[in-house]
Amino acid sequence: MPNLAAGTLPEDEFDHRYVEQPWLAYLHLTPGVLYLLGAPLQLAYRFRSRHYTFHRRLGRVLAGAAMISGVFALIFGGLFSYGGLPEASAAVVFGLWFLTCLVLAVRAIRRDDIVHHRRWMIRAFAIGIGIGTTRIWLALFGVAGLDFASSFGPAFWISFSLHALLAELWLRAFPNPPELAQESLDSSLSPRAAGAPSSP
Ligand code: HEM
Repeated sequence: MPNLAAGTLPEDEFDHRYVEQPWLAYLHLTPGVLYLLGAPLQLAYRFRSRHYTFHRRLGRVLAGAAMISGVFALIFGGLFSYGGLPEASAAVVFGLWFLTCLVLAVRAIRRDDIVHHRRWMIRAFAIGIGIGTTRIWLALFGVAGLDFASSFGPAFWISFSLHALLAELWLRAFPNPPELAQESLDSSLSPRAAGAPSSP
């Protein structure tokens, strides 16, 4: 970041790409950080259920930010990956999956389908935070003696796949939002939230 702001080249070869493509870096990192900071609020039932108007407004900002970040992740990861084709392919596959989840989440809530809105948002978030655990795999591969650049491909594939899998396991364990239980309790299930998910 300091190099990016000053326009100077960092010593680290890995960081070069960010300074050489500053706009791609800004357009990926800035909305990405915004999304990652705001998403936990959106996902938390206690907060969401007390402030639905805020959830909708912040949600539009965050969904937009996540989509911008995702598009530039595709471009940056696809064209300027540090780990070559293995990393670029993971960036494209999981970048497309991230964008698909977001689009399907927004489409779901536009037709008042809260159940699927939540499911697709959880899938998107699981991928969004996937970049964090790539660091763990990079460290493990480093300890195992693999060189840094070659570690990126496997680290990306393992990390994002595990996140996608964990999201599915989470959704299997908790298929419905607490909102649904609440509405059943009130015995006034609205048609928009009715029933357990029959599809993704
Ligand atoms: C990062 C996660 C999330 C984001 C970015 C997000 C985004 C949004 C957006 C953009 C809308 C408004 C759509 C519109 O009408 O323009 C919305 C509405 C809504 N979302 Fe989310 N959402 C997230 C997570 C969740 C989760 C986990 C649930 C759980 C059920 C949920 C429940 C709802 C509900 C109930 C509404 C409709 C509120 C109302 O109209 O009263 N959202 N969300």
